[in-house]
Amino acid sequence: MKIIDPHLLVQQNKEIRTSEDFMKPPTEKKGIIKHIWLFFWRRLDCAFLALLTYCFKCDSWHASAPYSNRPYKKTVVNLVNSLAPRCVVELGCGFGDIIYRVKAEHRYGYDIDEGAIRIARLLHGRRVNFICGEASSIEQKAIDVLILVNWIHVLSPTELESLLLPLLPKTQFLVLDAKDPGGSSICPYKHDFAFLRNRAERTSITPAPDEQRKFHLFKVTI
Ligand SMILES: C[S@@+](CC[C@H](N)C(=O)[O-])C[C@H]1O[C@@H](n2cnc3c(N)ncnc32)[C@H](O)[C@@H]1O
Repeated sequence: MKIIDPHLLVQQNKEIRTSEDFMKPPTEKKGIIKHIWLFFWRRLDCAFLALLTYCFKCDSWHASAPYSNRPYKKTVVNLVNSLAPRCVVELGCGFGDIIYRVKAEHRYGYDIDEGAIRIARLLHGRRVNFICGEASSIEQKAIDVLILVNWIHVLSPTELESLLLPLLPKTQFLVLDAKDPGGSSICPYKHDFAFLRNRAERTSITPAPDEQRKFHLFKVTI
């Protein structure tokens, strides 16, 4: 099992940046400009999504969580891309921020929220197939990577198990997330995925960069 410690990475990056900054003061200015630009870009992103969310009548969460504002999405994209998959399915894809950035020949995003699917189609529909539906609607026969992130904490372990079991025989890898057991976040369920024992092998655990949450990569063995 591979466990990546983000704190170590952050520390290493900081050291490199500090020594460079001593030698090249102008890069500091570039850094400030980058931060100001990012600040306004994120606000613009949120305002645009808020307008779409209002027009298409879907959950306001989406407007507060564009890709530029939630670093965990990039972590998931990198994790999936490292597997070089052909067919990727995301269940609970929202506006399709993650599935759109995954590199794969066939990409499918499923969501039960009709409004979210309409917005996902509007934003990324030329490259990804978006379908309004739940787990039982998934028609793909062979899935290299199945992603379920940032919503399964509302399902009990039993509900998650009954949702996932029918999909396991046609799935190679699973990407799931769980809030840290000792973490401060209040959420209904902090999964340990015990029901996957003897059905899948956990191959890595990757922490989210700025949250008490981890992404679990499983290789299905049944
Ligand atoms: C918080 S959003 C996360 C979206 C996306 N995974 C992301 O991280 O950007 C959760 C999404 O899951 C969808 N969802 C919730 N329960 C679902 C279910 N049983 N089947 C499919 N989608 C579901 C919601 O409609 C919502 O769009």
